[in-house]
Amino acid sequence: MNNQEKLHNLALRAFQNAYCPYSEFPVGAALLSKEGHFFSGCNTENISYPVGTCAEAGAIAAMTAAGDRRIAEILILADGQNLITPCGACRQRIKEFAAPQTLIHLATPQKIVKTLTIEELLPLSFTEGSLTHD
Ligand code: THU
Repeated sequence: MNNQEKLHNLALRAFQNAYCPYSEFPVGAALLSKEGHFFSGCNTENISYPVGTCAEAGAIAAMTAAGDRRIAEILILADGQNLITPCGACRQRIKEFAAPQTLIHLATPQKIVKTLTIEELLPLSFTEGSLTHD
């Protein structure tokens, strides 16, 4: 099984475990770190709606908790009529740990539908270089 198949399997399992009783919209995410480890996360909602977290945030937090700091590739999986892309906040979250060539795979439960880079998803982003004073 190649890395993309592993990412798809992991994200599908997370998708199936998503806790989303309010939106009823499960999302799973899985990533491979540069260090060679796989992590996954699912959206986890809350009765206090703004407290809910996205799947990508869960996968990234699992990576940082394990001590890894770079995303090699990440896959986001959801089921919908239209292509599901990461929300704005999650694009920023991915950007923090991504390189320009980091691949972002967008998938349905059946297959990867589209692969693109963080630069395509979040152009002109706020980065370390933005945080300067005159
Ligand atoms: N959601 C994610 O998990 N990731 C995204 O990038 C977009 C949205 C979740 C949040 C919420 O639980 C549900 O999808 C509906 O917005």
